[in-house]
Amino acid sequence: MNSILENRPLLAEQITDVAEVAGYLWQKGWAERNGGNITVNITACVDDEIKSLKAISEAIPVGRTLPFLKGCWFFCKGTNKRMRDLARRPMENGAIVRITEDCSHYEIVADRPVKPTSEIISHLSIHNYLIGKGSSYKAVLHTHPTDLVAMTHNPAFLQKDVLSYLLWSMIPETRAFCPRGLGIIPYSLPGSGELADATIRELDEYDVVMWEKHGVVSVSDNIMEAFDMVDTLSKSAQIYFTAKSMGFEPERISREQMNELKTAFHLPK
Ligand code: 13P
Ligand code: ZN
Repeated sequence: MNSILENRPLLAEQITDVAEVAGYLWQKGWAERNGGNITVNITACVDDEIKSLKAISEAIPVGRTLPFLKGCWFFCKGTNKRMRDLARRPMENGAIVRITEDCSHYEIVADRPVKPTSEIISHLSIHNYLIGKGSSYKAVLHTHPTDLVAMTHNPAFLQKDVLSYLLWSMIPETRAFCPRGLGIIPYSLPGSGELADATIRELDEYDVVMWEKHGVVSVSDNIMEAFDMVDTLSKSAQIYFTAKSMGFEPERISREQMNELKTAFHLPK
């Protein structure tokens, strides 16, 4: 079977990166069964020949109208598909979709009619929000990092910015490479419009948002960077747990030391 990726190195590179990250998510233990999802805005890689392709699905409702997605194309992980399978065979476990003229439906175009993730309303609402505010971000990652999700079972960590400061204070990398911190939103039904709306509100202030007792959403220019931020936060969580399991409270990098990092690295917060 021919793939839309043939003779399209830029598009193929994007999908190869998605597959690489999907493999990391499985190796990290963050992707039980079909856990997690990825979408990437691939509009910049879409040529006239792709634009002329016929849809291979009916028009599927998004559940809302997203005006900034006019003319946009996405690669989406399939619902119920495993990250470990996406890693090996991305075009069998995900699909390329286009947004229809009315901005409230999408159609699957290639390679196979793999239905997008059940979190599509959050993913597409996030992309719509990002384009609307003129952001260069193209990748949205949702995953279930065991350590970070475990922390959300402690109500003390759900207060605004408590987890951000705790994780920032474990190692300078987290302060430097996840500089806007970790937003937290209360538990909501997976796949719901409420979850999508709450996520967008938090993205105003944060690049990584925690869905309480479920998983994180990370947004960035590309899927590697989106992964790196979650990986960095998870490293901090591991340092915290390791210190606690050795029987002591970690001393933490002080607020003054964190501010020094802010100045030295020109951090936004
Ligand atoms: P999908 O298999 O539909 O992508 O769902 C996985 C998930 O993590 C839902 O939150
Ligand atoms: Zn999930």
